[in-house]
Amino acid sequence: MLLVKALEDKILSEGSVLPGNVLKVNGFLNHRLDVPFIMEMGKEIARLFEGCGVNKILTIETSGIPIAFAAAQEMSLPVIFAKKHKSKNLSDDVYSVEIESFTHGNTYTAVVDKAFLNEGDNILIVDDFLAIGNAVKGLIKMIESAKATTAGVAVAIEKGFQNGGDALRQKGIRVEALALVDSMDDSSVTFRK
Ligand code: G4P
Repeated sequence: MLLVKALEDKILSEGSVLPGNVLKVNGFLNHRLDVPFIMEMGKEIARLFEGCGVNKILTIETSGIPIAFAAAQEMSLPVIFAKKHKSKNLSDDVYSVEIESFTHGNTYTAVVDKAFLNEGDNILIVDDFLAIGNAVKGLIKMIESAKATTAGVAVAIEKGFQNGGDALRQKGIRVEALALVDSMDDSSVTFRK
């Protein structure tokens, strides 16, 4: 797949590995956005989930939003992003989950207005990174609370060695990673083939 190879090359040439198993890709994904490249990732996600009957995309702020937006543009679907910050313009009628961030060592509450997740929806979860998978598990909980179904999970980069993706696959959830990192240290990044 051309896009997969391009993303792997970009990770190798522009990314760096920080202590704590963190892959830094601020130059195109987490701080500065490479818009044409993100739009290409969206096209690939759309291709992977074509014909699956998805009617909404769900992500979580912040860095999931651009990729979800790109996929949604290609699939002509709306995007809902779970909010991590309380805001006055949010109703009280929300789905709410506690998410423990392994990377950041904190726990936060993510919420989605109940008006935007409905019974019968078939939802594609999109995010930038999949590590231990707590964020995705939280989003799946909200989808279940709404009596909707999860069509699958699409992420730009999965860190396979943190096992979140494989745990979801074992539960029968379709998980697609555009780049799947098998191992990394400060001098190399290896991808699963
Ligand atoms: P999870 O996403 O699988 O649940 O794992 P974890 O709790 O460890 O991730 C917490 C946050 O750190 C998430 O972003 C996730 O996307 C990000 N993250 C995890 N591993 C990496 C990594 O190796 N590199 C980078 N760049 N990010 C990583 P977040 O807290 O939701 O932040 P943001 O979306 O607001 O930027």
